[in-house]
Amino acid sequence: MGKIKAQSLTDTYTLNNGVHIPVIGFGTWQAKPDDAYTAVKAALAIGYRHIDTAAVYGNEEAVGKAIKDSGVPRQDIFVTTKLWNEQRLNYDDVLHAQFDSLQRLGLDYIDLYLVHCAEIANHHQEWQKLNATTWRAMEYLYTHGAARAIGVSNYMVRHLKELAKTQEVVPAVNQNYLNPFDRQEELVAYDTTNNILNEAYSPLVTGELLNNAIVTAIAKKHNRSAAQILIRWSLEEGFLPLPKSIHPDYIAANAQVFDFELDADDHEQIATLQGKGPMNDDPRTVDFTNFIPWED
Ligand SMILES: NC(=O)c1ccc[n+]([C@@H]2O[C@H](COP(=O)([O-])OP(=O)(O)OC[C@H]3O[C@@H](n4cnc5c(N)ncnc54)[C@H](OP(=O)(O)O)[C@@H]3O)[C@@H](O)[C@H]2O)c1
Repeated sequence: MGKIKAQSLTDTYTLNNGVHIPVIGFGTWQAKPDDAYTAVKAALAIGYRHIDTAAVYGNEEAVGKAIKDSGVPRQDIFVTTKLWNEQRLNYDDVLHAQFDSLQRLGLDYIDLYLVHCAEIANHHQEWQKLNATTWRAMEYLYTHGAARAIGVSNYMVRHLKELAKTQEVVPAVNQNYLNPFDRQEELVAYDTTNNILNEAYSPLVTGELLNNAIVTAIAKKHNRSAAQILIRWSLEEGFLPLPKSIHPDYIAANAQVFDFELDADDHEQIATLQGKGPMNDDPRTVDFTNFIPWED
């Protein structure tokens, strides 16, 4: 606890295929295109080198433009995007979806391409077959250089075990809801044992954990913000946090997490939050109707 190797935004974890991935990713869910553009530009100017978007966020074009206008060389930026559910009902759909994401981003490769969800609404009965076919197409994209690494998101242990029966490439990443309310210990242990990196989405519980009394007390003790405590906690758990903000002052502050450590007492306090707030959605029942709140 406490100590981590990373000391800056450009430090990296090494994925199971040897690709280096910066230890903090910049989240962009719910950032409308104009906001996403300014936020990603601000993040890159501050020193973030890892951006997380998705086809379904509706902001890939803005993210790509911000990358281009940032002046930071393409090869210095790690870009993740994700394959949306309705775009993976058959093998060819996946190839087209990735091509469309590349077009919108204005890029000729993606650093990390993720299957966004383990199950698709109205297709729950066929998740095994759909996931196996999707993954074959993901493997094609990987072996042909369209993605430097491929992974999954919102996969539970049962989805990963099923995939392992047919996969030729082990997912490099599993991106999941991971924060003090839901540490998903069984899933994290499975990923770690199988050399799959745990990316932590909603590290601030989409802002909901920032006023929590335990977190704010720890923040006061270290003279830090609640967001910094949660991002540091995520790193100390061995996760790769993906904090999102559209405000340059928050974006900058959220990167100042390499010059302090949480102590054993902080970790004990934070551990008491498990189960006390929103938990991971079960892929069998999750409803993405409000996934992008500004779109009907
Ligand atoms: N794979 C998936 O299914 C999935 C699902 C959810 C999220 N994600 C990824 O993970 C990223 C992060 O998750 P998230 O968007 O749920 O939220 P989050 O990072 O947990 O929290 C973001 C919220 O906290 C606020 N905030 C950020 N820094 C702050 C600070 N220093 N002080 C006060 N408020 C602060 C932001 O406000 P402002 O923006 O107004 O500044 C925003 O409302 C996403 O953006 C996305 O890239 C992936």
